[in-house]
Amino acid sequence: MNSSDMIRAVDLGKAVDTALGQLTILKGIDLEIKESETVAIVGASGSGKTTLLSLLAGLDVPTRGKVFLGPYEITAMDEEERAHVRSEMVGFVFQTFQLLDSLTAIENVMLPAELKRDPDAEEKARELMARVELSHRLNHYPRQLSGGEQQRVAIARAFASSAKILFADEPTGNLDTRTGANVIDLLFDLNAEFGTTLVLVTHDERLAGRCGRSISIASGMLVPEGAGAPA
Ligand SMILES: Nc1ncnc2c1ncn2[C@@H]1O[C@H](COP(=O)(O)OP(=O)(O)O)[C@@H](O)[C@H]1O
Ligand SMILES: [Mg+2]
Repeated sequence: MNSSDMIRAVDLGKAVDTALGQLTILKGIDLEIKESETVAIVGASGSGKTTLLSLLAGLDVPTRGKVFLGPYEITAMDEEERAHVRSEMVGFVFQTFQLLDSLTAIENVMLPAELKRDPDAEEKARELMARVELSHRLNHYPRQLSGGEQQRVAIARAFASSAKILFADEPTGNLDTRTGANVIDLLFDLNAEFGTTLVLVTHDERLAGRCGRSISIASGMLVPEGAGAPA
């Protein structure tokens, strides 16, 4: 593999068994994303974007093909090894924030770095909470925070663990337009500062336009460049 590839998928496919028979969600995806690239994955609802992101991040396993993250072939690993690579390399920002309700904001931000036994976990978390302008909310629980604040905590958490790759799945999907715009500015600012590779699923054309390039997906397949956006 080319040494500057941070993410590489080869003939990646996913099928699931349903009550109505087998459903093929992804049909042989090949892609390469280089270090520090910002890439938007766009496509209609149900086209397979979340499934693709989950496979690239090692949160789910494919039914065929391979995924490489940096030097690791995660599709050749068991769940424990994948978890290790995730904690080493990967941060996530989800549409539904996915903070742990029983932990305060700063505890949520510290958790991934603590799991890596980073002795500076708390200091880094404080810095990131300041960076997302939430120093006054360190000890609040997620339910005491607005949606925009929760997503800023999630962004702080994603960067606090020094992830090399950040996956974001419709990070503004549950936010109003203005709050969403603030969250996105923050995401791109931090991404540029940290030199993270960013893979972002979005419906939002403007948001996709801020990425270095877009990958379109329709019915579980990549739409070749120049073929136009799917309807
Ligand atoms: N575990 C599953 N079982 C059955 N169908 C699924 C499963 N996961 C996803 N799907 C279906 O696969 C398609 C793609 O889903 P998804 O990747 O979530 O699409 P997107 O994120 O582009 O909206 C959808 O039709 C969805 O209903
Ligand atoms: Mg989705």
